[in-house]
Amino acid sequence: MKKILFSLMSLFAGLAVAGSASALTVSDYTAGVAAGGIGGTRHNLGSFGPVIHTGEQASPFLAGMGTTEICVFCHTPHHTNTALGPTPLWNRVNATTTFTTYGPTIGGSNVTAVGSVSLACLSCHDGVTTFDNLVNAPGKGGVNSAGKDQGWWFLMPGGVGSFTNPLDHFDPSAGGACASCHVSLPGGMGTIARLTIGTDLSNDHPVSVTYTTGRAGLRQTNTVISAINLTAGLNASAPTLFGGNLAQNRWAVKGFISDTATIADLLRDNKVECSSCHDPHFKNSSWDEVESVAYENWCGTSELCTDGQFLRRVGGNTGSGVCRTCHDK
Ligand code: HEC
Ligand code: HEC
Ligand code: HEC
Ligand code: HEC
Ligand code: HEC
Repeated sequence: MKKILFSLMSLFAGLAVAGSASALTVSDYTAGVAAGGIGGTRHNLGSFGPVIHTGEQASPFLAGMGTTEICVFCHTPHHTNTALGPTPLWNRVNATTTFTTYGPTIGGSNVTAVGSVSLACLSCHDGVTTFDNLVNAPGKGGVNSAGKDQGWWFLMPGGVGSFTNPLDHFDPSAGGACASCHVSLPGGMGTIARLTIGTDLSNDHPVSVTYTTGRAGLRQTNTVISAINLTAGLNASAPTLFGGNLAQNRWAVKGFISDTATIADLLRDNKVECSSCHDPHFKNSSWDEVESVAYENWCGTSELCTDGQFLRRVGGNTGSGVCRTCHDK
């Protein structure tokens, strides 16, 4: 059923792009444009956020049960947690650091620890740590260097929620608070189960793995990303389809869309981390394939819904462009 919906909606999306001048394509993300827009993405958990958001500040009943701040869920200007390496001004502490690591790769690496920016992402995507577990609370809320759950209420689109805070973390199992509604909502559990990366990282692309050229067909780290030919050998239509997605290869780096960045710019301490592929601030509406599903009625159109999975590559993973940027496959 999902497959049928997907192909129907893909057709529709194709028509919409052809017929409307307002739809965004890769060409709207030129070099130098800021990789921003976080306020309108799923990563805005404050009261003005579009999906999971804290108590509405406008309602007296829920006043004090949240914040309109956006950055505070991840960053704070003072009293930061500096333990996570290059993750700047970090305002979170992981409730668990016990992960099943990836282990040995075919290329000969052995991932035995998770660190750095990956732990930062996993401080929400682990399914354990609550979204409102902060070091430096907003305003005069105080500092807790070990992190403290703020006890806030989180709501769904349209203010749907309950007056406790069961929505404050991802549910790893199908039996928890998220499931209480989503089992029967269109899209079912897949809508939300996909967001729980969990504590078992052996079933995810390796993270905290050193980038060693010569393994797994990896390109040289000084390779200029925009110069990589992603259409070689593909069907003749590949360079022109989807707004010329595969004919260009720009990535968000250091906050801006770049056509001069190299693969080294994607690495943190020479390792692949979650943020090698994702920029958590980037509302990337240029990937034609995502969000083409019928249940996305919380924001009206799929164009508004999409964050493009926060992928750094303009055009997302069309033609596996993300994968083939590092792997010469
Ligand atoms: C959901 C978590 C999250 C939120 C919310 C968030 N950030 Fe970040 N931010 C991160 C992570 C993780 C990094 C490190 C990413 C990396 O390795 O590139 C980062 C890095 C940065 C950087 C340095 C790298 C860059 O991309 O420029 C700046 C500046 C920054 N954030 C500013 C902000 C501001 C301002 C806000 C609020 C408007 C904000 N962030 C909201 C997670 C977040
Ligand atoms: C090597 C690149 C890469 C790395 C590293 C990576 N991701 Fe992803 N991630 C992707 C791609 C590509 C997608 C989109 C998959 C799709 O929708 O086809 C994705 C999707 C996701 C999704 C949405 C899941 C879905 O299928 O809808 C989440 C959540 C996510 N990533 C979180 C993370 C976290 C957390 C980390 C670090 C532990 C991480 N990613 C590391 C490439 C990566
Ligand atoms: C009280 C009922 C309820 C609960 C509990 C609930 N949701 Fe929702 N959720 C909704 C409704 C209603 C929508 C809007 C559905 C739509 O627009 O089709 C929604 C939409 C979403 C969406 C948007 C779909 C998408 O992919 O963009 C996500 C993601 C989501 N919920 C995640 C969660 C997570 C994660 C939890 C648990 C932490 C959760 N929800 C708990 C009712 C709920
Ligand atoms: C403060 C908690 C928090 C942190 C930290 C965080 N995320 Fe998320 N992320 C969320 C929530 C909550 C959602 C889903 C929100 C919703 O749909 O309402 C989400 C959604 C996503 C999605 C799906 C977007 C889509 O288009 O459907 C991806 C991918 C993702 N996060 C990756 C990351 C990566 C990578 C990092 C680290 C760089 C990160 N997140 C850090 C809370 C967080
Ligand atoms: C930022 C660079 C980068 C990107 C983008 C990237 N990878 Fe990787 N990939 C790596 C590194 C580094 C390794 C570890 C190689 C090693 O040391 O053996 C790896 C390993 C792998 C492996 C082998 C794992 C093993 O157990 O041997 C596979 C399969 C793989 N990647 C697939 C993908 C896919 C599919 C995508 C796109 C979704 C992708 N990669 C995107 C850097 C990348």
